[in-house]
Amino acid sequence: MMTLELIRKPVAGDLEAYEAFVTRHFHAESDLLSQMLRYALSSRGKGIRPMIVLLSAGMNAPEPQAGLGQRAYLAAMLVEMIHVASLIHDDVIDEADERRGRPSLNARWQSRNAVIAGDYILARNMSIGMSSGQFDLVAHVCDAIAVLCEGEIIQSDKAARTEMNREAYFDIIRKKTASLMGVSASAGAMAVRAPRERVERMRQFGEAVGMAFQIQDDILDYTRTAHTGKPANNDLREHKITLPLLAVLEQAAPQRRAELLEKLALCDGDPSAVDELQHAVEQGGGIRMAADVMREYLRQAVEMLAEWESSPYRDSLVNLCAYVAERDI
Ligand code: FPP
Ligand code: MG
Repeated sequence: MMTLELIRKPVAGDLEAYEAFVTRHFHAESDLLSQMLRYALSSRGKGIRPMIVLLSAGMNAPEPQAGLGQRAYLAAMLVEMIHVASLIHDDVIDEADERRGRPSLNARWQSRNAVIAGDYILARNMSIGMSSGQFDLVAHVCDAIAVLCEGEIIQSDKAARTEMNREAYFDIIRKKTASLMGVSASAGAMAVRAPRERVERMRQFGEAVGMAFQIQDDILDYTRTAHTGKPANNDLREHKITLPLLAVLEQAAPQRRAELLEKLALCDGDPSAVDELQHAVEQGGGIRMAADVMREYLRQAVEMLAEWESSPYRDSLVNLCAYVAERDI
């Protein structure tokens, strides 16, 4: 079983320096804001995005260096804080009470405060970026915010609709998840001033990993033994059609399809409808079909890495691909 600890190894020292960098930059004056900020920052999850930034910076650095430096830490902070803010807002939108096994910010301090906390994190992030004078990184990373918003709005418009299809699903996950992972990988390369083609190739690598990462997230939603810190079948209760269900719907006869969609409409208030759909997805091979698509993205991602010389950083990025497929948290 691949572990994050092993993947982090080549940048373990940098990740510590990065943590200190974040603590130094992120603090708030007012009591409530400062409490919410501390809470949000103390449970930032697996830290996959900053780890990708630093591994990419290491792999693309022109020569081996001790400590990747402030530009790499800044890039890592810019992407991670966009992610943190987006999840705070996402939990408000989804009315989710839990995140990573703890009450969400909205559950603890109400939605109206949580929205402001998310805004504050985004604003501070930008202001730290601008004051640093590293405008290329700030511009590169900020593009991702608009894409995330687009992904979220398309999802809210289409995810529960019968017209949901693969094209729409891939468009949503590319925008809401893969884009920021792509930017994490490319910002790392940019931070060490890698050539433009390499920055672009890293973006493609990160996007492929991100597509796989979100598909696995959608699979884990159907896995009741997973340890994500989120209740199982959240997506069904939110009427979201993700790849495991989509794959089953695609293969169902028209009447069965209509039946399944009718059940989906009941899922927020009727646990037996959730159970039936869960069963239909498992029995119909939806999880297996989604996993095949996920593995294909990871295969492409690993293939891209062959363009770089062998290094502990590259090994870690290859291992990250194995981790994405295996993870259950
Ligand atoms: C989680 O999806 C949500 C996202 C990855 C993106 C959320 C984006 C916004 C709310 C747009 C606003 C952006 C910013 C930067 C403020 P999910 O609901 O499928 O995952 P979950 O199960 O972890 O909640
Ligand atoms: Mg959500």
